[in-house]
Amino acid sequence: MRKLQGNVYNSFDIIGDIAVLKSSSAEAVEPQVAAKEIMSIHRNVKTVLLQASPVAGELRLRGLTHVAGENKTRTVHKEFGCLFSVDVAECYFSPRLSHERMRIARLVKPGETVVNMFAGVGCFSIIIAKHSKAANVFSIDLNPAAVQFMRENIRLNRVYDKVAPLLGDSKDVINRQLQHVADRVLMPLPKKALEYLPCAVSALKPSGGWIHYYGFEHAAKAESPTEKAKLKVAEVLDSLSVKFEVPFVRVVRSTGPNWYQLAADIRVV
Ligand SMILES: C[S@@+](CC[C@H](N)C(=O)[O-])C[C@H]1O[C@@H](n2cnc3c(N)ncnc32)[C@H](O)[C@@H]1O
Repeated sequence: MRKLQGNVYNSFDIIGDIAVLKSSSAEAVEPQVAAKEIMSIHRNVKTVLLQASPVAGELRLRGLTHVAGENKTRTVHKEFGCLFSVDVAECYFSPRLSHERMRIARLVKPGETVVNMFAGVGCFSIIIAKHSKAANVFSIDLNPAAVQFMRENIRLNRVYDKVAPLLGDSKDVINRQLQHVADRVLMPLPKKALEYLPCAVSALKPSGGWIHYYGFEHAAKAESPTEKAKLKVAEVLDSLSVKFEVPFVRVVRSTGPNWYQLAADIRVV
């Protein structure tokens, strides 16, 4: 997340050569003014878009309107030496998770099989394939456009031997073809993580493994968002009689007043 002076737009993201502005208040000045400021500081930015509606719906898309520069929504973003081709109007993409993606890649041990249940255009999957010695990464998404870009990104990053793109609802795909195969399961979709947790467990090998869980949590001042998340996870896993521990949980970012996005590493034994 980047800040603009004067707090006119509280933040913007740069994805490849596209900047996406987020309006902070009703009194925001003309987005063209903010666009001019961004383009004068970030010379690589060719297009400025305004996020006209929040990320929403099953495919986690947002409304975008053109503000300045080339009128386009497609770009190529670079992250930790990997290239990600993406249409920001048709697919979810956030550069804000880049450090989380690398954190996970560093945890992957040689020979592991990884299942990414909500893969988007393949960012976690490809960074893992490039920066670890994983044997396979099964990379699932429900959005046909995202899977199309994922295929292109697999080619761009030459990871065809490791990353398998799979189109569909991850529950169906796992039930059909990925039961008891994984050493590690990624769940980077906070809205569905709790509901899909039993399915993530079913993808793990009988000997167990790791689940990387992402959730949203509301926590008042006296409450701990991480403890609340742990309790919710425990409720689901206890109901399945799954033995587990949560050795790591952290707030990834704040998403609104008293709202947090959390990452939890769950070890199923
Ligand atoms: C928050 S995005 C995460 C994208 C990606 N992991 C990243 O880091 O850019 C969630 C993704 O889950 C996909 N999705 C939503 N419901 C799904 C489901 N039931 N099965 C598989 N994918 C799903 C959406 O299309 C979206 O691309």
